[in-house]
Amino acid sequence: MSEPQDSQLADNPLYLRQKERADANKPPSRNSPLGAVAQSRFPEGRSRREMVEGILAQDEGLVEGHFGSVHYIPTTVCGIDLKLEPLQPSIGTIVHGLDLATDLNDPEMVSFLRELWLQRRVIMFRGQAHLSRQQMVEFAQHFGEVGAPFGEREHIPNSPHDLNQQVKVPEIPNMLVLPSDERVPNAATGWHCDATWQTRPPMGSILMCRESPPIGGDTCFCDCYSMWEGLPLVTKRRIEGLTAVHVGGVGHQMDGKTPAAIHPVARTHPETGHTTLYVQQGFVRRFAEEHEITEDEEKSLLLQMKMQEGRPEYTCRFRWEEGSLAMWDNRAVLHTASGDFWPHRRLMERLTILDFDATRRRPYYARQRTD
Ligand SMILES: [Fe+2]
Repeated sequence: MSEPQDSQLADNPLYLRQKERADANKPPSRNSPLGAVAQSRFPEGRSRREMVEGILAQDEGLVEGHFGSVHYIPTTVCGIDLKLEPLQPSIGTIVHGLDLATDLNDPEMVSFLRELWLQRRVIMFRGQAHLSRQQMVEFAQHFGEVGAPFGEREHIPNSPHDLNQQVKVPEIPNMLVLPSDERVPNAATGWHCDATWQTRPPMGSILMCRESPPIGGDTCFCDCYSMWEGLPLVTKRRIEGLTAVHVGGVGHQMDGKTPAAIHPVARTHPETGHTTLYVQQGFVRRFAEEHEITEDEEKSLLLQMKMQEGRPEYTCRFRWEEGSLAMWDNRAVLHTASGDFWPHRRLMERLTILDFDATRRRPYYARQRTD
């Protein structure tokens, strides 16, 4: 059995508790997609060991390679030839041709990438494994202020119940490390924007893949503009002035206190002016009490919004390779990890980015005439 991805985990009580389940030969819980997918891939496994061996045998023949063709837009910025590969018609573009450690010194390149990011909600890069953690921070600083591991410093989770907080990076304390291995499966599955339980949630997030599974573990993104546009007009009219309560999980507690924040349901994007649906049912529990919405109506409205989450037409899916890096706009997309890769290993590093303009950090809604 492989060792934990970071030596700090070897003595960590949370890691050890979960490892006990593995040592007892129990498969991962089917309450999590990681366990459910494993069960569907190898239903004949009577023990965890048999499941691991059965699934690894299925994946044994995988080799790395490239074939087929993609459509991309060639463009030249600051004398550098780029290839822009759209992942889906409306969101997600992989930018090929840049070295993020050296090619962002020209402000023209930074503003090109920011425009593309606003337009496509999430941009990705490949082949950036050479970037050190400090160079990731320097990349992020071109776009905003690097936040704490969960954004603003008003609430910095210190929960012992979140595995992702157990690996400390002393030289980069703002970095969150997300490990997952055979003993302790771990993935942020479920549509959400990062830390919306903060009063001023992070503008964007950056994720770097340091170790990728040979198959699975993609991150999916869902466009919040389309989610808003896809709602029936009568529903839009009903909810546009409402606010909702976003509540963090036990892993987001600071000194035992669970964070919560109230945000508008329809949100105006502070840079593009577009309206987005700002309800992610990973964190939203209810509408604010002041609206006095009946339980039945609340249920029905939340269900209508939930049905917009993850529609294939609104989403793109990014396949990770070692050295792939994604930067997304938390004001414009939801995201979720695809929890389908157990028992393979996956190791990610995340930074949050706060808007340089502090007056734009708090979500608001300004009705548009065109809505
Ligand atoms: Fe996330």
